[in-house]
Amino acid sequence: MTATMKLVSRVRRLGCVLAFCFLALFLWGLPVARALDNGLAMTPTMGWLHWERFMCNVNCQEEPDSCVSEKLFLQIAEIMASDGWKDVGYEYLCIDDCWMAPKRDSEGRLQADSKRFPGGIRRLANYVHSKGLKLGIYADVGNKTCAGFPGSFGYYDIDAETFADWGVDLLKFDGCYCDSIKHLADGYKHMSLALNRTGRSIVYSCEWPLYMWPIFKPNYTEIREYCNHWRNFADVYDSWQSIRSILDWTTSNQERIVPVAGPGGWNDPDMLVIGNFGLSRDQQITQMALWAIMAAPLLMSNDLRHISLEAKALLQDKDVIAINQDPLGKQGYRLRKEDNFEVWERPLSNLAWAVAMVNLQEIGGPRSYTISLTSLGQGLACNPDCLITQLLPVKRKLGFYEWTSSLKTQINPTGTVLLRLERAS
Ligand code: GAL
Repeated sequence: MTATMKLVSRVRRLGCVLAFCFLALFLWGLPVARALDNGLAMTPTMGWLHWERFMCNVNCQEEPDSCVSEKLFLQIAEIMASDGWKDVGYEYLCIDDCWMAPKRDSEGRLQADSKRFPGGIRRLANYVHSKGLKLGIYADVGNKTCAGFPGSFGYYDIDAETFADWGVDLLKFDGCYCDSIKHLADGYKHMSLALNRTGRSIVYSCEWPLYMWPIFKPNYTEIREYCNHWRNFADVYDSWQSIRSILDWTTSNQERIVPVAGPGGWNDPDMLVIGNFGLSRDQQITQMALWAIMAAPLLMSNDLRHISLEAKALLQDKDVIAINQDPLGKQGYRLRKEDNFEVWERPLSNLAWAVAMVNLQEIGGPRSYTISLTSLGQGLACNPDCLITQLLPVKRKLGFYEWTSSLKTQINPTGTVLLRLERAS
């Protein structure tokens, strides 16, 4: 290489570093907009939600163990309390679509399907509370739920009161069958205020931006004032393609969505599907690591009655959960993509940083990636030095590093290496 070529490539590299720093500064430094004032979700909600794994299975005759029924929720509640899930933070046991009877009662109230939920929601809530857990439920802003059960349009106040009466602690409010963007926005706001008026603490989980995107760019400042978390993108499936598409959507929109996340209001990239059928070990590690970096609600959708020890250990990894739940409450972002590697970082409290490196190449074996520490955390993560701990795929203390040094890692195809950097001096 000639001296001029060297200079040009150095200037180019510097240009890139500055561009990334600018992006990082932009995503990291902005003050967070006002959040829904209900004092809830100061860190991302953790729990379990039935949809991805159990969907709308109402056939309890033939599939008594996997239909959407009281029995399923009683069993999951029992396991969440006894198998360490609650202890690491998974607190909300959430019912999704298909719990309702096809019609409201004579007074216009929603009612649970009496065959599948013979004890009703109030008794289920009592049981869930007796286990030290909280109960989530599902309804829809439009005329019907996505699966065709009664919608809340025209019944927002009555439904909010019903949920509060039953002792519900979280509402997932879907956006199907809403006939206009005005009704969508009015409905999401109306329900938020109605829930607050009940006087009960109810986490409000929205899908408002997801249903706006095809038509309008959502106003996230406004959404944050009404919702505790909000889905932006399509439903998660039990596949790597689905996880990748969620990550790709997130990176394409990070300038818009990262700055709005913070205590009280979070972007929701949908459920954790770890412990099911579609993701390899490395892909499960990637989902866990990136959901931690994204400050995402950690709502598992799996069968806790039958889950491998490996998946359980990953989902219950306290160090990774601590990153997700970090009290600073800043969402991480992708710092760079090169040669089919992605580097993500997230600022944490006490000047610590989390860094995730993903190998997106789906051919070949583990590839090595070397990262220079000056490039992390706007140059501050390891300045003048830091202690680095690798958290995933396995926990390993990597030791003391100086600002000008670099770190070499090996990353499996579709896998992730997750690090925590702490100031040493
Ligand atoms: C979808 C929603 C899913 C699930 C489903 C229920 O629109 O995004 O998470 O709730 O409806 O029918």
